[in-house]
Amino acid sequence: MTYVTEDNLTDLAIERWSNIPDPRLRQIMTALVKHLHGFVREIEPTPAEWFTAIDWLTRTGKLCTDKRQEFILASDVLGVSMLVDAINNRLSTAATPSTVEGPFHIHDSPEVAHGGDMAAGAPGEPCFVTGTVRGVGGEPVAGAELDVWQTDGEGLYEAQRDVEGAWMRAVYRTGGDGRYAIRTVSPIGYTVPMDGTVGELMERTRISHMRPAHIHFEVRAPGYKSVTTHLFRRGDQYIETDVVFGVKEPLIVDFQEKQSGETPNGERLEAPFCEVRYDFVLQRTAT
Ligand code: BEZ
Ligand code: FE
Repeated sequence: MTYVTEDNLTDLAIERWSNIPDPRLRQIMTALVKHLHGFVREIEPTPAEWFTAIDWLTRTGKLCTDKRQEFILASDVLGVSMLVDAINNRLSTAATPSTVEGPFHIHDSPEVAHGGDMAAGAPGEPCFVTGTVRGVGGEPVAGAELDVWQTDGEGLYEAQRDVEGAWMRAVYRTGGDGRYAIRTVSPIGYTVPMDGTVGELMERTRISHMRPAHIHFEVRAPGYKSVTTHLFRRGDQYIETDVVFGVKEPLIVDFQEKQSGETPNGERLEAPFCEVRYDFVLQRTAT
């Protein structure tokens, strides 16, 4: 029998948590014990500090519902969501990179025709996003689905509005030439939810709680790896301090301001609008 000391406790706990038949769970739990003990040895918490941590975790769990996930937000602001995303999306450098999905994606959005308006009735400056979906080899991808969601021009998602039916989200489909055309409104930067335990912690830091303006996409096509990503507005004031570490250089695009004139979907507007051009590049799934 080995009695416990401060020195041997980590080894004893790792050994005990090695007694797991499932090899993957054994790997996860022994690494968790090792790193958690390492963290505690580094910070040497007082009992009051340890209770504060447990209380924070308890209150974070209590905030979670089917509409709100404070633990995901914690994972996002700590950079862990983007790390998991990077590990699981090691794509060719020629492919459009992935970024964090975020909590505002709603499945089964309505299909909107090529060039149709997914922002009908929403506040904001009209914005036209056009381009192609192609493979890494340059071939156009016909029939690719672009599942699109974003804030309106006041920085709010559907889940933050009291609306009936779809708001600021739609599914578009590429034609035989791989082209897509979206009419929407320009997104603006917004704050992540600050009224919970993550906000409470952020308030004690000098970290920005803002996300730069972006449009979310999930691009899917048979035979290709789906990509969940964003397009970010070049020049946005929060681009270098995105609170969830979501910005990757190839995803920053020009939102070209036009004062009036013909739009990419053939309309004529006598008011300012924005044009964005972007070609999504998908990697084939392994055969
Ligand atoms: C978003 O872009 O929708 C988002 C991502 C992470 C946390 C909060 C919002
Ligand atoms: Fe977002």
